[in-house]
Amino acid sequence: MTVQDWERLYASRMSRVVASDIRERMKLLGRPGIIHLGGGLPDPAFFPRAAIADAAARVLGEAGSARTALQYAASEGHRPLKDWLAGYMGSLGVACGPDNILITNGSQQALDFVGRLFLSPGDGMLVERPTFIGALRAFDAYEARYGWLPASPADRPAMAAGRGAKLGYAGPDFRNPTGTCMTRPEREALLDAAAELGIALLEDGCYEKLRYEGSDVPSLLALEAQRTGGIDQGRVIYTGTFSKTVVPSLRVGWIVGPAPVIRKLVLIKQASDLATSALNQMIMLEVVKDGLDGLVRQARGIYGARRDSMLQALADHMPAGVSWTRPEGGLYVWLTLPPGMDGGLAAERALAEADVSVVGGASFYPIESDRNTMRLSFSLASEEDAREGIRRLGALLARMAVGQ
Ligand SMILES: Cc1ncc(COP(=O)(O)O)c(C=O)c1O
Repeated sequence: MTVQDWERLYASRMSRVVASDIRERMKLLGRPGIIHLGGGLPDPAFFPRAAIADAAARVLGEAGSARTALQYAASEGHRPLKDWLAGYMGSLGVACGPDNILITNGSQQALDFVGRLFLSPGDGMLVERPTFIGALRAFDAYEARYGWLPASPADRPAMAAGRGAKLGYAGPDFRNPTGTCMTRPEREALLDAAAELGIALLEDGCYEKLRYEGSDVPSLLALEAQRTGGIDQGRVIYTGTFSKTVVPSLRVGWIVGPAPVIRKLVLIKQASDLATSALNQMIMLEVVKDGLDGLVRQARGIYGARRDSMLQALADHMPAGVSWTRPEGGLYVWLTLPPGMDGGLAAERALAEADVSVVGGASFYPIESDRNTMRLSFSLASEEDAREGIRRLGALLARMAVGQ
């Protein structure tokens, strides 16, 4: 069979599924000498290796617990972890019970499942401008028709374009890719817009805990529950993850939402992979039940210092005409280059000419890309390396600005 034959046999949805720029770039991680300001990988130097080893020993060291850990888990998730998460979400202002929670293989799986539940080919899917590339890749597979999520009901063009859409997706806390955070009035306005459009709203809480300054803002889920009297009456489905606060490799994420929606998502989970690993869920529970606060404090200390250092380096080294966000949390800074300068081309040249990995902004838009943008992450490189990377990037952008 030739390559051409394979193309004929693939499902139509695969025409929308393309390799992500970021995943492709991750293949370069091994190349020596590269300064990584591209992907938002947590720094492995701070993974809680000993806590995970102790937890694994406890879980497997006792016969009964080991039997549970090594068996198929319930599709809904390991009940003690769900009970713990119900308490944790309660501490974030969300009253919920185990029937409102599904454990997933990371929050990426949650994005896929929610897409699968709501989107038929051609259905309207409203996203922020720009938005998380991994979410676009998940929704692409359901052949969604993209539009922009209105900021409020007063956002008339977006409201008109969004009529008939089914689902909206937003990351209100320290968005990937811009690092910006929605204020409480902005959240209220988004909920008003969602209500007027009659859409479900998927809230990505990936970075909710990674705040370095300012005060916490309640999640869309919490605000909606206050309005409607509880999450079962609301339109928000929330996804969280331990990937950025504990480790990504155990692949433990969760969905919180109205019980009828969770029941449907459990059916999808059964069809997809039966269940998330019981062993991983049990290890994660052991780690987080006494340790999450300390890990969050540690992550805030490290990434907060790296953010400060990156912002200072940008101020020191970026040429005139380049502006950037000043995130209060998360892992990303978003650069806007002078009009007409291509962030994707700058990213390619940064890698080839300066050994610096960054991501061009265009891939964070499903339509109508602002090409003069670029995402930087301050999670992985040391402060010293990041400063050097920004210096090299600034010099490259200065050369590009004069046509070199
Ligand atoms: C906004 C956002 N959502 C979801 C994910 C997926 O994370 P995980 O599947 O590891 O929970 C990421 C990963 O970077 C992310 O940035």
